[in-house]
Amino acid sequence: MDAGERLQRLYRQAERGDLVHFLSGAEPGSDEALFAFADRVRREHVGDAIHLRAIVEFSSFCRNDCLYCGLRRSNRGLPRLRMPAEEIVAQCRRAEALGFRTIVLQSGEDPFYGREAVVDLVRRVKGATGLAVTLAVGERDEEEYRTFFDAGADRYLLKHETSDRALYERLDPGLSHERRIACLRVLKRIGFQTGSGIMVGLPGQTLESVADDILLFRDLDIDMIGCGPFIPHPATPLAAEPAGSEELTYRVVALARIVTRDTHIPATTALAVTAGDAGRASALCRGANVVMPNVTPQPWRRAYEIYPNKGRTEVFDPALLERLRRTARQLGRFIAEDAGDRLPSGRRLS
Ligand code: 5AD
Repeated sequence: MDAGERLQRLYRQAERGDLVHFLSGAEPGSDEALFAFADRVRREHVGDAIHLRAIVEFSSFCRNDCLYCGLRRSNRGLPRLRMPAEEIVAQCRRAEALGFRTIVLQSGEDPFYGREAVVDLVRRVKGATGLAVTLAVGERDEEEYRTFFDAGADRYLLKHETSDRALYERLDPGLSHERRIACLRVLKRIGFQTGSGIMVGLPGQTLESVADDILLFRDLDIDMIGCGPFIPHPATPLAAEPAGSEELTYRVVALARIVTRDTHIPATTALAVTAGDAGRASALCRGANVVMPNVTPQPWRRAYEIYPNKGRTEVFDPALLERLRRTARQLGRFIAEDAGDRLPSGRRLS
């Protein structure tokens, strides 16, 4: 079977075997065929718009101890900073003035930002701006998620990181894979546009489990899918492990596009950190349709070092939007002017 036929089969009925085939990249020419097909599926199902989401990282406190993450509570060398609510609102206003239509409010699992504080934050941001609000504040119980939704939050990001349960529970001590997936189901049920994602190239991760990750995005009807390479952080137990590969990350992006079709898929920051602007552009030509610029100012940005160099790269300045517009034009694309909700789509490639 040639790559074209296999891609057609994958598009119609995705199965683990075909996913692993493309993830391995073993067949000569399979990457080129995969990337071109993903770009076509992207255009057919979500068009040429590139959606921008501004990210504000508002707290580097975290009660978890994930082995890969610089924010893990055992990392005593990291400054722990928490942005006051007024400052967060000011940053949201600034993002809106710059032209963003949606904001991602992201933090470690900070006990200070419990239910009431998050509800208050969402209300303030919704009151002060017209932004779509995306929360990324970790695992909460159903009732809490519901309160966030009722307060006006529109979207929620909670990556499942890996579908390999044993690997997940080894890397995220104290967390349960089952609970993670249950949270995603609850978020969908409540009505959030829900984002998940994985790290590519985690130590011990198999291609079979990555294939399962992609099938899981489809089965949970995930709306937004963020996949970036694992980047070892020197102050974590995984310091000496190799980083995830860019090529494999592009394959995951492309396959996620083909299998889930009309989802929002960012060219992730982790990819931009390892592969630069060119990496971001490559992802946009291989299935991605979203860019998420980090608008967090110092000193909070420096404190949010999930992986090395995160705080230093792509320092946000107002010229960024102009640069992104230019990049979009060079790719034959354009920057969307709306908030970029996931739209119901019945379209199919013929
Ligand atoms: N390398 C790459 N991505 C990481 N994340 C956390 N630590 C790392 C790392 N070392 C990602 C996880 C998390 C998101 C906020 O950042 O996917 O969900």
